Amino acid sequence: MTTLRAGLHDAIGELARFNSAPELGGITREVHTPEYVMAREFVASRMAAHGLQTRVDAVGNLIGTLEGAQPALPRVVTGSHIDTTLNAGRYDGVVGVLGGVEAVARLAAGPRPRRTIEVIAFAGEEPRFGMGCLGSRLMNGRLCRADLDKLHDANGITLASALREVGLEPDRAGEARVPSGDVHAVVELHVEQGGFLESEGVRLGVVTRIAAAHDLRITINGRAVHSGATPMHLRQDALAGAAEATLSVERLARESSSGTTVGTVGVLTPFPGAVNVVPGAATMIVDIRDSDKDARQRVIDAFQQELGEICSRRGLTVSVEVIQDNQPSACHPLVIDAARESCREAGETYLEMASGAYHDCMSFAPEVPIGMIFVPSAGGISHAPDEFTAPEDIDLGVEILSATLDRLAN
Ligand code: HGY
Ligand code: MN
Ligand code: MN
Repeated sequence: MTTLRAGLHDAIGELARFNSAPELGGITREVHTPEYVMAREFVASRMAAHGLQTRVDAVGNLIGTLEGAQPALPRVVTGSHIDTTLNAGRYDGVVGVLGGVEAVARLAAGPRPRRTIEVIAFAGEEPRFGMGCLGSRLMNGRLCRADLDKLHDANGITLASALREVGLEPDRAGEARVPSGDVHAVVELHVEQGGFLESEGVRLGVVTRIAAAHDLRITINGRAVHSGATPMHLRQDALAGAAEATLSVERLARESSSGTTVGTVGVLTPFPGAVNVVPGAATMIVDIRDSDKDARQRVIDAFQQELGEICSRRGLTVSVEVIQDNQPSACHPLVIDAARESCREAGETYLEMASGAYHDCMSFAPEVPIGMIFVPSAGGISHAPDEFTAPEDIDLGVEILSATLDRLAN
């Protein structure tokens, strides 16, 4: 175990060890699992070693606090997440949490900032339970107690039972709510997760708007029959129907008028999944995103239309459940300007850009001004074991984050 004051990059390496499936080659650390709790404890001890007060709130958010000279003032928030999606990399979210601790520690070494600053590891940014940004949504009252019983993972475990598993009481989730007016601004440091900065040869991004996901869980039902004894014209193959619908998602997103719509089917599961049974059912999860809400809606509507045609032509029935329907976020000039000034003061070039990925800071908008600072992802790779951001780029991101927090807190 590295010493708690060890460098940021050692800590990033240390955090990568908390992994429930190392055999797959990447990092899997889903929220509210034993590996997640151990990782959070590691981060908490690192926060404390850097002089922050730490606490875990009622829904598992870890909060590191540097109290300001005027603690009654609305505070500044930074942070991100340390939970991962499946078989992922070591930088997504982690750079914003461990880098946030580093950035605030630098301010703690100087004159006390006017406003209190919090570094938060939000619990559940990745959509283990179908919906993302759970911890930050709960902090902002975007979910109610009943949602905790409805949201479930691929194994049918509800968010409520997962919270109980790690010693948190779902009935007390409301205690995580941050009263409105308490937060002055939120700024999140994150790896870009795409290849724009690298392709432009620029090391810093100042995010102006953040795309949002509209996710659907679709269940298609046909008829399970013998794969050898059933002629092709007598089949109602649910997986073949889902496969055709998957190609619709890809084509409609590609042809979208905005040019920025993306559509993905990351989950496609046949039932019963036996080699000699024509699938009687298939579940697919569709993820359609854009920072242009109208363009996204046009793709969603066109897809629903085509899905209906595919299923009726194939004699299939279909049910569609909206898992999340998030609104794109605009970043606020207060935070954008602070980040831009910090880049200029450091003599660093930066690009103003959109984020294709969603992030926890969105849960605070539009009531609270939000913004993000991006550092490059090598090869535009993220959500994969090869995810990489150069240490010197992370250090630069931390330097700019620290200066941005300094501006927002004073
Ligand atoms: O899916 C996302 O955009 C985020 O990385 N969870
Ligand atoms: Mn992610
Ligand atoms: Mn992330």
